[in-house]
Amino acid sequence: VLSAEVLEALAVRPGQTIVDATVGAGGHAALVLDQLGPTGRLIGLDQDPEMLALARSRLSPFAGNVTLVLSNFDRLREVLSELAIDQADAVLADLGFASDQLETAERGFSFQQSGPLDMRLNPTEGEPAGALLRRLSERDLADLFWQLGEERFSRRIARKIVALRRHGSLETTEQLASLVRSCVPRPRGRRPTIDPATRVFQALRIAVNDELGALDRLLAALPACVRPDGRAAIISFHSLEDRRVKEAFRGKTTWQALTKKPLVAHEEEVRANPRARSAKLRAARRLPA
Ligand SMILES: C[S@@+](CC[C@H](N)C(=O)[O-])C[C@H]1O[C@@H](n2cnc3c(N)ncnc32)[C@H](O)[C@@H]1O
Repeated sequence: VLSAEVLEALAVRPGQTIVDATVGAGGHAALVLDQLGPTGRLIGLDQDPEMLALARSRLSPFAGNVTLVLSNFDRLREVLSELAIDQADAVLADLGFASDQLETAERGFSFQQSGPLDMRLNPTEGEPAGALLRRLSERDLADLFWQLGEERFSRRIARKIVALRRHGSLETTEQLASLVRSCVPRPRGRRPTIDPATRVFQALRIAVNDELGALDRLLAALPACVRPDGRAAIISFHSLEDRRVKEAFRGKTTWQALTKKPLVAHEEEVRANPRARSAKLRAARRLPA
């Protein structure tokens, strides 16, 4: 998403070292590598080994200029130091999940296909969504849906989940989606614009992957990872993330914000890729100390 805007924000020049902290299927990375030329270097991180495999094959034409690392981006500083890189010229992060992950039912991200309640971006670490739904109290579930999903019917949904736990089990994304839909009244007279399960799925995914914690740790590490006059660009998909990025790039000592308001996708891009509708890009220039 926002490819042209990302390239402009990163201000890539031949020979530079650029970090893509969320390399995914390698879409942005390939565009960056085109501009880096034969002496440039791209470091790509992802916490999902399946996405790294996709990136490896997509970026194979640039193999000599790419280093892919299986890691959470909250370890960016350590990753750079293990690669003996002092600082990068620019860092990009395109948060959240990739369409390949969403479309693989077994990963449990989709409420449109039935799969296990997993939702882990790193499938070998942490607690799957199903375990979280079994473990949390009714009150904690309600708070989670409200705080991370802004779900107005959070209490009703939490109550129903706890009731179901008593005499049955909640195993699939399909079961959870229909439970949520049964708790959320249809808006009168209008067709709902988004599936009522969207907010609860978002909240669970954020919690399962500690997405806000990882973003906070990345934002704290970034100043040390980007050289003076270098760039940082972050694409977020909901207000809880965007608020943090905005806050981090504010002030006049560490970063100079290059985007007063976040850049959003043009109508054409949204038509071609509905997920681009909620994408917000913020960029900043690292100020010399
Ligand atoms: C929106 S996709 C990136 C798509 C990529 N920019 C492209 O053009 O193909 C987000 C990717 O970031 C990864 N990811 C999300 N949070 C992460 C984290 N904390 N650390 C490392 N990777 C993460 C996901 O596994 C996913 O592959």
